[in-house]
Amino acid sequence: MRARDSDDGAAGAPTHAFDHGAAPASALDAADELAPFRARFALPKDGRRTLTYLCGHSLGLMPRAAPRAVDAELARWAARGVEGHFADAKARGRGARAHSAEPAAAGWLDYHERFSAPLAALVGARRDEVVVMNTLTVNLHLMLVSFFRPTKRRYKILIERDAFASDRYAVQSQLRFHGLDPRDALLELAPRRGSWELDRERLDALLAAEGERIALVLLPGVQYLSGERLDIGSLTAAARRYGCKIGFDLAHAIGNVPLALHRDAPDFAVWCSYKYLNAGPGAVGGCFVHRRAAGDARLPRFAGWWGHDVRRRFLMEPEFAPLRGAEGWQLSNPPILSLAPLAASLELFAEAGLARLRRKSVALTGYLLWLLERELGGRVRILTPSSPERRGCQVALQLDPAPLRTARFAARLRAAGVVADWRPPSVLRFAPVPLYNRFRDVHAAVRALKRVLDA
Ligand SMILES: Cc1ncc(COP(=O)(O)O)c(C=O)c1O
Repeated sequence: MRARDSDDGAAGAPTHAFDHGAAPASALDAADELAPFRARFALPKDGRRTLTYLCGHSLGLMPRAAPRAVDAELARWAARGVEGHFADAKARGRGARAHSAEPAAAGWLDYHERFSAPLAALVGARRDEVVVMNTLTVNLHLMLVSFFRPTKRRYKILIERDAFASDRYAVQSQLRFHGLDPRDALLELAPRRGSWELDRERLDALLAAEGERIALVLLPGVQYLSGERLDIGSLTAAARRYGCKIGFDLAHAIGNVPLALHRDAPDFAVWCSYKYLNAGPGAVGGCFVHRRAAGDARLPRFAGWWGHDVRRRFLMEPEFAPLRGAEGWQLSNPPILSLAPLAASLELFAEAGLARLRRKSVALTGYLLWLLERELGGRVRILTPSSPERRGCQVALQLDPAPLRTARFAARLRAAGVVADWRPPSVLRFAPVPLYNRFRDVHAAVRALKRVLDA
């Protein structure tokens, strides 16, 4: 495998190339230094057959260490009851690691803090700019409470036309909550006809025309349908030029593409942990608040005791004094049993290293695109941008001609052992995930797709 990629979030001209020569998938796997990580995940099976799982963009696989991480907290609960909230002197003596899946030496009281450093590394933020809490849509609402402050003149929200439904519902309901009518106050940016990509020219034109009336822009880091990776830095600069606040939905970006949120400086970002972060169904999400706002205690917010000054949290004082940083947006004490799998998963990210993961991701998608073209050229339309720096590990496609009965087509692909997904109206999404997918998985999926199409 030769995959070159300088796109690690650092400066430098992107010099991407994927050149597999004539190497078969097995040779590419043999040369893959991250291949051993696959054994650290539970691989879904159908009877005795291991499935070709290309659905990490929907639900990531379970790290084999996850049950141990959950069991450790159950054991602590069993052994110590309420005292599990506090440091265990014996465990402290053994010196548990900061974000290890081993039982935390510190108790549940500060359990969530072990996630700040690894999450900050994943999103390119300062430690105090991130917090693990709630789920994505809940966090989006909390951020909108603080950053969508409509005035008579500036009251609109701009989203993309194909925004994930939950984001749309969240902003519509926030507009109504402020007494605004989404038919007037919700602006939607449509892609150019026939394209699936964010139309930058249209966005700039819309900002030029409406920027003074736009209070907030909400965009994805990676578009959930097309797999397009957006340029957070440049979009943030454009929004801020017109005085608009801007936030990003990183559901499909975190753990998938390099991020540099502190440098790019959007006001906020939110994410979930069940996709590329492999923390399990409904796992606890996270939130980024840029330092320029995170230190502002006067910023309106919905408050709860876990966001209160940690030294005084248990004094039950009448007045709320938020913690500095993103932690000041916490509401409740965190669900430890749901957080434990995330600790197991983040360890794997730390071991594998983001730069290596990104290199393999670029190579896997490069191989997928090459194989689709070779095997099915003319019968598939790729919706994901071809340039590696404008995509993560998801490749979205449409079949030409579109199958008449998509449900039956999807069932046949599944019967062939491939787990991918269909999104209405006609989008098929494959996501080879560098932590656990192989080049052979990509090969098997494309061959299965071809067989199903030929049948
Ligand atoms: C892009 C995007 N945004 C928002 C959500 C909603 O996430 P949650 O159910 O954690 O609120 C999802 C869920 O898949 C998503 O893919």
